[in-house]
Amino acid sequence: MTEFDQLYREVILDHYKNPRGHGVMEHADAQAEGQNPFCGDEVSIYVSFGDDGDRIEDVKFSGRGCAISQAATSMLTEMVKGRSVVEIAELPKEELLEEIGIPLTPIRLKCAILGLGVLKVALHKAKGTPLPEEWAGLDELQLT
Ligand code: FES
Repeated sequence: MTEFDQLYREVILDHYKNPRGHGVMEHADAQAEGQNPFCGDEVSIYVSFGDDGDRIEDVKFSGRGCAISQAATSMLTEMVKGRSVVEIAELPKEELLEEIGIPLTPIRLKCAILGLGVLKVALHKAKGTPLPEEWAGLDELQLT
């Protein structure tokens, strides 16, 4: 393992142990839940919008899952705050994977993007933003 990989691993572990944005939001403007059927792990996402309704003011998540799913969702909450709804609805998963920084197996990939998928569904439900085509191949993730 390179020093670089080691650094990424430490960052992931830190997000897992001290998740940012962890919790439940009362009166969220948008909300969705999703499950990774491979393991049964679940993530719920809560979003509040800014006064203009176009910006993500705050994001919280709850649920349980492996280190990758929890750390990735924690990183996600930091990435999306203050950004526009449309921008996040279109956010390619690669941007999150880049933030995670280490290569992931296909199984781990599903863990990593669980939170992002749930967030996109929450925005879709609240704002009608389209679910991107790349999400079409991921219907194994049960998003509601
Ligand atoms: Fe369940 Fe990763 S093993 S989300």
